[in-house]
Order: sequence, then C-alpha cells, then structure tokens
Amino acid sequence: MCPSLLHSRHVTGSWWREGVFYQIYPRSFQDSNGDGVGDLAGITRRLDHLNDGSPRSLGVQAIWLSPFYRSPMKDFGYDVSDYRDVDPIFGTLEDFDHLLEEAHRRGIRVLVDLVPNHTSDQHPWFIASRSSRNDPKRDWYVWADPRNGGPPNNWRAVFGSAEKRAAWTLDPASGQYYLHHFLPEQPDLNWWNEEVRRAIDDVMRFWLDRGVDGFRIDVAHSLVKDKLLRNNPRLFAKRRPRHNWELDEVHEIHRRWRRLLDEYDDRMAVGEVSSRKLSNLVRYYGNDDELHMPFNFNFLRQPWNAEKFRGVVEEWERLLPSHAWPDYTLTNHDRSRATTRYGLRNARVAALMLLTLRGTPFIYYGEEIGMTDVPIPPDRIVDVDGRDPERTPMQWDATAKAGFTTGRPWLPIAADADQVNVAAQRDDPASLFSFYRRVIWLRHGSPALRAGSYRSLRAPRGVFAYVREADGERLMVALNFLDRSSRVSIAENADVVLSTSDGRTGDRLQPAVELGPNEGIVAKLS
Ligand code: GLC
Repeated sequence: MCPSLLHSRHVTGSWWREGVFYQIYPRSFQDSNGDGVGDLAGITRRLDHLNDGSPRSLGVQAIWLSPFYRSPMKDFGYDVSDYRDVDPIFGTLEDFDHLLEEAHRRGIRVLVDLVPNHTSDQHPWFIASRSSRNDPKRDWYVWADPRNGGPPNNWRAVFGSAEKRAAWTLDPASGQYYLHHFLPEQPDLNWWNEEVRRAIDDVMRFWLDRGVDGFRIDVAHSLVKDKLLRNNPRLFAKRRPRHNWELDEVHEIHRRWRRLLDEYDDRMAVGEVSSRKLSNLVRYYGNDDELHMPFNFNFLRQPWNAEKFRGVVEEWERLLPSHAWPDYTLTNHDRSRATTRYGLRNARVAALMLLTLRGTPFIYYGEEIGMTDVPIPPDRIVDVDGRDPERTPMQWDATAKAGFTTGRPWLPIAADADQVNVAAQRDDPASLFSFYRRVIWLRHGSPALRAGSYRSLRAPRGVFAYVREADGERLMVALNFLDRSSRVSIAENADVVLSTSDGRTGDRLQPAVELGPNEGIVAKLS
C-alpha cells in the first residue's frame, strides 16, 4: 500500500485503530553525530525501515517517541526541564519538524510522550516553587510539613532500594517535604491546582499545533493524589484503596484532555495505566470521553502459556464496551524484552498473536529482528531501575557499532549484533524481520485482521486459536505455544495464507490443522 492510500482512509480514528504502532527509544535508535546517543536526525534517516510504502519495509503506521525534551537525564528524559524544546543531545526543534514532515510523507503518524505527573527538579516551575513558601508556584507541587519529625505520610516511591523509597524529600531551606513518586529529581506536580492543568494544556497545544498526531501519556493513572495526604493502608487490602494512585478524580483530567484533543482533527492519546485488573483498566475508556486507549499491559505479566494469553483476551473482549478499542503490547522500555522472556523459538508465534488479535498492536524497536536483553557490565550501568538491558542500541548491520553510531555507544551493543541485525535479515525470506513484514502487510490488506470481530475457537491445551471476521472475510489464527506438535479440529475448509514455518502457504486444512512445535498459522475459512 502506498502512503497516499494510507492517507486516503479518512474515517476518523481508523489510523490508530487499524494501524500498527512502533515505539522508538530515541537514545537507542540511530545516532547521527557520533556522540554515541541516538537523536532525531538519526530517526529521520531510518524512517524507510519503518515504512517506505512497500512490503520491503516493516509497514508501521505510527511511531511513539519516548521523551526527547530538555532534561538533566536522571531518568533519561522522563525528567523534563522544558516541555517545549528538544534536548541538545537529540537535536533541535527544526530536527523535530523535519522528522514529523518526513514521517507524515510516508504515512507514519507520530505520538510524542507527555510526562504530566512530574517535572525535573531543574524545571523553572520547580525552581520557583522551591525558592520560598510564598512563591506563586509553591502550590504547583505537593509540599507538606514533616510529621513526627519525618515524612508527611507513608507513601512510597517507585524507584530505589527499599529503605530509601519514601516518596518525600525534605527541602532544608523551607523545612517542608516535597512529593515525588519516582526519583527525588522528579517532583510531582499538584494536579489539584488549576494553573498546573492549564500549563499542561498549553504544552499539549504546543505539540498539537506543531502537527503531532497525539500523545503517549506517562503514568496517566497517577497525577491526582489524596488532598489530605492520608496514609496508605499497610497491606493493599481489596476494599481499602491507595491514596496516591488511581483516584477517581484522575478521570476528570482525562476528560479534559479528550476535549482538548477533540478540538483538533483526528488526534489521539494512549495512557500508561498500570492497573492490574482489567475490570479497573476498562474504566479508563470512560464513556468514550476519556483517553482513546489505556495500555493493556497484561500480556507482559503472563508466562508463556496459551491458556493465560487466551484468558486475558477473552476477559478483555468481555469487558470492553462497544465504543472501546483494545490494544496489546508485549514489551516496552521498562520491561524485559519479549524474546528474552519467551525465547527466540516463540518469537514468531508471539508476533503473530500480537499482530492478529482485535486491537492496536504496539511493537518495541528491535522486536522485529529478535533483539534480546543485553547483559550490562557493572561499570556500564546507567539506569536507576535496572532497565538498561532492554534499552541497548538498535542493531542495523554487522559493523562494529551495529550501524548505530560511529562513537562510543551510551549502552553496550549486543554481542550477537553481527548476526541479529536488520541488514542480515532484510533479504532473507526466512528471517524474523521478513516474518514481521509478511504479517503486517497481510494485516494491511485484510479488513478482518484490521477491524474484524474476534471469537475464540476450541483448541487443545497449549494452543490458542481464534477467528477474525469482517466484510465477508474470515480468518482463523492458530498458535501452538508448545514445543511439540498439536492438532486443532475444524469443521470447514481452510487455506493457509501465512505460517511461521516456510512452505505451508496454500495448504488446504481439513478436517484438522496440524501444528508443528511453536508453529502459528493464519488460514482463510471458506
Ligand atoms: C513511566 C515510564 C518510565 C519512567 C517513569 C517515570 O513509567 O515509562 O520509563 O521512568 O514513568 O516517568
């Protein structure tokens, strides 16, 4: 499909419902100036890998860029000191505009990462807020007096060792504590303050006016914290909610953002919402008046087990109201890579599942070539929370620095990069990259896979099978999670259109599908 065709599907929302998303961690995608850190110009240079309008490319329709704003980089960009500028390490605003233009020219939409829960402690807002108890920006952050000579309450931060995990840091100059759910260098904004809400609205408008297609919203389920700063219950007992995450009032903010997005033409937002229970996650769709999608992270928590994945999908399908569109992901910049968790032998079945379920799939850079977590020697550890292994440089070719940089890469390059890389896999029809391309381009041409209904099929233990259907097209997907063969009975004719194993395309299956070990197929039912 050529880019102009991608543009011509004008139905509002179809691009983010039917498209395949790809997450880029800008530090690690492509360096263009030899400083060992990826940058925006590097991403632009590599856009043809993502979509050049032909099946030679991966064929994704949207990218999400992790933060590239000005930042002291204590949390590698998730500590923003200026929401409206590009950090010099990544380039300039002009580089961003150029990236956006080049992406759009290829039919690739662009989401930027909005980090509204906290800023950097170097953000001018926090510098002002900290400067005195009377500063007009004091109330933009959460300040509180000590209690019994210690922190105001028992809330815990997400990072750091257990003893140091208080979510509060004392500011000796004013004698008060400030709240931070991540590093002390990431003070939490006070979302009860209307000026804060307006300031973040302005940030959103800044990027929307520049032409971005939407946002991935960081820690979207937090933001608002209990006004009274009450202690959390010691054990997270079922009916005793925490006072610092997922307050009901957060939905008001999501509705506000939706109204703002709706002022623009066909934009969207996907929120990072770490609710474990799907019954809770579904609330984030609101009445089709909140964020367009909350991330469903439940796949990341499953062991490699067909019944578990099927359980997540069936529960999600049951819970979603008709206006809500699902999404799935297998990994991201905070989690161990899927290929490491499930093993390379299962990478194709995992990809086939992600890309053929009903819902928007999010791929993390490097998944398409089977990148795995890279062991980091102690003297090269840079992340505060052990996430370096899944953030190593993209492996483009077999040269010493994997085509990522000419300098010293900020994180080590995988030892197997000379074999696991884009160049080596591009012309090999049996490669994982070729498999990803086949599935994605099949999906583009298939109303059933892009937008069709979902129905589970009966299958033996270890096999996850389902039917997708739209516009008279009916496709069966059967995924064998086991290391041994399996057999799924079917009542009708089915012709294989795609398989994880070579040479099966065109096979007629009836009355059963014989699946090899770790094999997945897509077959047309007739
Ligand atoms: C989100 C991001 C993570 C970051 C944290 C604090 O969970 O995905 O990378 O460290 O928020 O901003």
